[in-house]
Order: sequence, then structure tokens, then C-alpha cells
Amino acid sequence: KIPRIAVVGSLNMDIVVEADRPPQMGETVPGNRVHFIPGGKGANQAVACARLGAQTVMIGSVGKDAFGQQLLTALQNDGIVTQTIKQVEDASTGIASILLSQGDNSIVVVAGANAHCLPEDLDQQRSSIEQADAILLQLEVPLPTVLYAAKQAKQLGKQVILNPAPAQDLPAELLANVDVLIPNEYELALLAGVEVTDETSLRKAMQLLLDKGVGIVITTLGADGAAYLTDDGTFGRVTGYQVDVVDTTGAGDSFNAGVAVSLAKGSSVQDAIRYASMVGALAVTKLGAQQGMPTADEVEQFSRQRGELA
Ligand code: RIB
Ligand code: NA
Repeated sequence: KIPRIAVVGSLNMDIVVEADRPPQMGETVPGNRVHFIPGGKGANQAVACARLGAQTVMIGSVGKDAFGQQLLTALQNDGIVTQTIKQVEDASTGIASILLSQGDNSIVVVAGANAHCLPEDLDQQRSSIEQADAILLQLEVPLPTVLYAAKQAKQLGKQVILNPAPAQDLPAELLANVDVLIPNEYELALLAGVEVTDETSLRKAMQLLLDKGVGIVITTLGADGAAYLTDDGTFGRVTGYQVDVVDTTGAGDSFNAGVAVSLAKGSSVQDAIRYASMVGALAVTKLGAQQGMPTADEVEQFSRQRGELA
């Protein structure tokens, strides 16, 4: 079965500067290289879904400028439907200024046209949502849009998957419409309003979100893999994979896409997380968010090498 996924979210041009070390405020340091790489959490997740074999539609907004055109072309090259992306006159395409140093990064995002992705755009794209199995959401477009998308998709009986990144507090009404919530540890703590320091507090924080109406919480734990708790009380952990990290940008995005595609194919939560962990592991071995997303074949090969089932 070919999964059909609609992504509602951001598109950014990532301006990636590599330096040996990050500057302190007020300091200037030499950089080694600069890259212009398509990014944005929404678009990254869309590309990962498409490469993993999903029929993918992207709903979002770019400016009528050169970067906007490049971002659309990048998605089209991966076979993603882009007629659903609005091109606005009065804002420039979203930009992420990314400093890459020793495999880690810090990012400044200027939303630009992403701020023009509005609830009414979703009414226009309703048929795309009607045709999808699952809808994939993040927090780089306005919150009212995310909320509207979640409610609309839920009403249509679609699986609603939310990656609550970048971290921010969320209204109860949004969480009540989410089937699968995929935070990292920091986002989990913020959303649940509790400190997460050990397995007990981790479970407690996830339970608090289930109490708000979320169906499944999957928390990514960096090198420690991921943990999940479902509304029938099942708790589990999945260990991660050791790889040589080149660039962690988009690691979360690749994981979300892996979960979405695997669940849409009918996998169990545990298997979906294992699959997503492999997708994430491969993604961080390459430079760039979108351009580093692995294909289904690459994941299968990796899984054979590591002796796991895909
Ligand atoms: O999740 C990674 C993405 O976050 C980058 O591609 C950048 O655009 C920022 O939005
Ligand atoms: Na990457």
C-alpha cells in the first residue's frame, strides 16, 4: 500500500555556514564554507516522506522570489505535489540562518512567507487533505493554521501527527486533536509543564499529554533513542543507532516522516519508531536537511547491515 501524506508547514532556504567554532556575541570568527540548501521543517518532512515512498502533498507558502522558486523545484524533483503551495507577493521566502560547527548547529529562522500560510488556505486545499491517510504538522506556520489543519483532518478521520517544534506552549484544543505527538525531551517538558530527568518523570510527562487527548506520545531522546506511551498504557523504549554524524539539521524531521510513513503502512508503534530511527540515523550522516533525507532503499540496506527488519 502506498501511503498518502499531506504536510502542512514551512519552507525555508537554509543558509548554512560552516565554522570551526561558533562566535560569541560581538565576536567575528572565520567560516570555512557556505551552502544554500532547501529546508524548513514542513518541506523537510515532505521530502523525507516522498523518498520513503509516500505520495506526498505539501501545503505552505513561499515568496515570489528566487529562493521560493528553488524551494518549489526541489520539492518537485522529489515528486511532491506543490500546486498546493501559495506564492505571496508581500513577503519573502522563509530563511534559516544555520551555523554548523562540529556536527552541531544553531539556527535563526525568519518566517517571512511562512507567516502567510493561513487557515483559509486549508479550505482551498481541502481535497488534498481528504485524499491523505495522514496529515503531518509542525510549528513553523501560524498556530491558528496548525490548529485548523488538525481539526479539519481529525473531522475527516485522518491520522493527525504533530511535531511540536520549534518548542512552544500549545492550546488544549490543539492537543485534543492530535493522534500522534512527537516531541523531543525539551518540547515534552515544556508542553507537559514538568521537568524530565528520569524514566519516572518521562512517563509522567507523556501521561499528562495523553490526559489532554493525545493518542500516542513518542519522545525522541537523542543518543538514547526514543520512548513512547500510548493511550492504552503501553510504554516502550527503542534504542538509537550509532553513526558518524555530519549534520544534525533535520534529524527530527526525518524521524517524524519515518513514523508517519511507517504508521500509514500499518506498522505497530514500536516498528514505526525503529524504522524512523533508521531514517534519522541515515539523515544525519549527510550535509543539509532536505538533501540528506534517505530513500526507502537506503533505509532497507541500512537495516540489513544492522541486522534489523525494516
Ligand atoms: O528542522 C530543521 C529545519 O529547521 C531547518 O531546515 C531550518 O529551515 C529550520 O526551520
Ligand atoms: Na542531514
